[in-house]
Amino acid sequence: MNTIKSGIPGLDDLFSTKEFPKGRQILLTGPPGSGKTVFGIQFLINGALHSEEPGIFVSFDDLPRHIRTDMQSFKWNIKQLEEEFDPPLLTLVDGFSARVGLTTSEKYTIRANIDSLLMVLTEILEETGATRVCIDSLSTLSTIVKDPSQVRKEILTMGAILGEQGCTTILTSETSVHGVEEYSSQGLLRLSYDELPTGEFRRGILVQKMRGFFHEFSWKEFRITKDGIRIFPDRTISRGHLI
Ligand SMILES: Nc1ncnc2c1ncn2[C@@H]1O[C@H](COP(=O)(O)OP(=O)(O)O)[C@@H](O)[C@H]1O
Ligand SMILES: [Mg+2]
Repeated sequence: MNTIKSGIPGLDDLFSTKEFPKGRQILLTGPPGSGKTVFGIQFLINGALHSEEPGIFVSFDDLPRHIRTDMQSFKWNIKQLEEEFDPPLLTLVDGFSARVGLTTSEKYTIRANIDSLLMVLTEILEETGATRVCIDSLSTLSTIVKDPSQVRKEILTMGAILGEQGCTTILTSETSVHGVEEYSSQGLLRLSYDELPTGEFRRGILVQKMRGFFHEFSWKEFRITKDGIRIFPDRTISRGHLI
């Protein structure tokens, strides 16, 4: 099988297979507040809960403890997945503290370099057999390494290693990062929002690229509800002022 159930309602329907590509490295881009972090966490949590796929979330943009508490508003119990399963169904990696010079009590921490990311990921993969990984965000990771071409090379290496192990990887990125599309040649999902004349905002998702798959190729509406992201595959939206 080269597909999985993504765990994001409506998302799998955007593909002719009615399931989500497996073992690929997929870039998830969008402006701040477009839903990238929620998407990444939901992909991991539902993969763990409904498909028994262990996940790894590498957080460069926020403290893991903030993510644990924030995600409770969706009734997502991260701590339980971390602590009540052996091996854990979810592992959070702190890429934030070292970057801003904070000390941390997290089990897994990334020093501000890419070698450290690859080492930590390899260690957790061995321990947990993770098959879903989310790196949040590539934009921030890029700011901590000196040479952007090195990031590109290492990300491709990492994608190859993870893909080889059947791991599906979501790399989040702000759209504004120049040339970031080059990082992933396998798949590109875009999140955005649009202001209506009424002043209301509407969210949209586009499968811009997915190598090897037939997929919808128009913006579809999605909402962030109390249960997380829900995509409406039947609601095509015109781009309007999508950012
Ligand atoms: N813990 C939460 N509880 C309720 N709503 C949330 C929570 N986290 C995010 N959201 C909603 O989802 C939106 C997108 O958040 P987020 O995924 O953090 O965006 P991004 O990572 O793209 O900057 C937020 O602006 C908010 O409306
Ligand atoms: Mg985010």
